[in-house]
Amino acid sequence: MRILIINGPNINLVGSRETHIYGNMDYNKICDLLYERAKDLGVSLDIVQSNIEGEIINFVHNARDKYDGIIINPAAYTHYSIAIYDALKAVLVPAVEVHLSNIHAREDFRKRSVTAGACIGQISGFGYYGYILAMQALIHKVQDGLK
Ligand code: DQA
Repeated sequence: MRILIINGPNINLVGSRETHIYGNMDYNKICDLLYERAKDLGVSLDIVQSNIEGEIINFVHNARDKYDGIIINPAAYTHYSIAIYDALKAVLVPAVEVHLSNIHAREDFRKRSVTAGACIGQISGFGYYGYILAMQALIHKVQDGLK
């Protein structure tokens, strides 16, 4: 089971950015923790991050045939990127959308996700633990033949 985590703009600043919303844990520390958990779950994990929409689209394209699942936090692009939605639809790799914060309990403009419609599900509001839940969800889905 090979999983790619794709993080969007400003996620690299988690740990210092709006800590009352995103927590104090440093982005690199979160990645280390996720690599550890992936090992326990028997998952081969890669994590990438970009602040640029086109790079995120390229990450999605390149996941084709290389990964069994994508976990994506498109960050602000969640709310308006039809291009990322189209990329996720195009590659046919099952994807789970993750948000550290509960986007449904924040400003109105965050409540709408354009990209979630191209995913098998969305996990929002559990901090970094959401990525672990997403790994478990993907393992379950893939083992279950995506039923
Ligand atoms: C976020 C929520 C988005 O609305 C915001 O633009 C982010 C982070 C989250 O993980 O909670 O940058 O995706």
